[in-house]
Amino acid sequence: MDKLQKYFDRLWANYISMTPQALAIKELFENNGETIVNDHIALRTFNHPKVNIIKLATYFTKYGYVKKGEYKFEEKKLFAIHLEHQNPLMPKVFISELLLEEFSTEFQKTCSEIIDGIDEALIESEDFLMSGRTWDISYSNYEKLLKESEYGAWMSAIGYRPNHFTISVNHLKNLSDLTELNKFLKENGFSLNESGGEIKGSKEVCLEQSSTLADKIQVKFSDKTTEIPSCYFEFAKRYEDETGKLYQGFVAKSADKIFESTN
Ligand code: NI
Repeated sequence: MDKLQKYFDRLWANYISMTPQALAIKELFENNGETIVNDHIALRTFNHPKVNIIKLATYFTKYGYVKKGEYKFEEKKLFAIHLEHQNPLMPKVFISELLLEEFSTEFQKTCSEIIDGIDEALIESEDFLMSGRTWDISYSNYEKLLKESEYGAWMSAIGYRPNHFTISVNHLKNLSDLTELNKFLKENGFSLNESGGEIKGSKEVCLEQSSTLADKIQVKFSDKTTEIPSCYFEFAKRYEDETGKLYQGFVAKSADKIFESTN
C-alpha cells in the first residue's frame, strides 16, 4: 500500500479510537451496500510558529498535496486553509489555527505553556498528528479556556489528532440525498449537530454538509477525570460550480457552525 494511504489509515485508526460512532456509521453504511470515500479530514492547531498551519501542512505537502483555499472565521478567531492532492480520491485536508493574539493574556499564557511543552522531535514526525495530548492540563484551566474559546479548550484537552473525517455523499449510491442520509442516521440512533440547521450550506454555494454531535470521552485532567466532547463525523455533498466542475472548496459560513459539533 502506498505511504500516503497508510498514513491516512493510521490517522483513521487514531480518530475512531476517540470517535467510535464514526466506525459504527461507516459499518452501518457498508452493510447498506455503500462504499465509503473520504471527502476531507480536519485538523486543529494554534497559530504559533512551532505548530501552526504551515508546520502541519508539511506532513501532507511532502506527499504531493498543494494548498488551495484560505478561510477566515472572525467570530471564532480562526484562520484555515485546505490542501488537495492530484488524486481526487485522496481526501482534502482542512487545517485551522486559533489566532492566539486575539485572546486574553491569561488565555495566551496557558496556550503558550502547552505549546512550549511539546517535544520538538515529535513535531518533526508525521506521527505528531496522532500523538493526542502530550502535556498536562487541569480541569480548572480547561474551563477557563472554554469561557473564551470552545476550540481552544478542545485543543488543550484532546491535543493533536484528527478532529473529523468526512463521508463523501457524492460517492454514495442510496443515500446520496443529505436529508435522507440525516433521517437514516437519526433512525439508527445518532444525534446530529443542529446549530444553523441540520444541513449547512446549499446547492447555491455548491456544498451541503451535516455532522453528528461529538462523542463524549472520559478525560484525565491533572485535578480530576471527567467527560468532555471528543470528535464527530461529517457528511459532505458537493455540487458543480460555474465552471461545471465539482466544487472542491469549503464554505466559511457553514464550517463556522460545524465547529460547534464539539460544543
Ligand atoms: Ni469538515
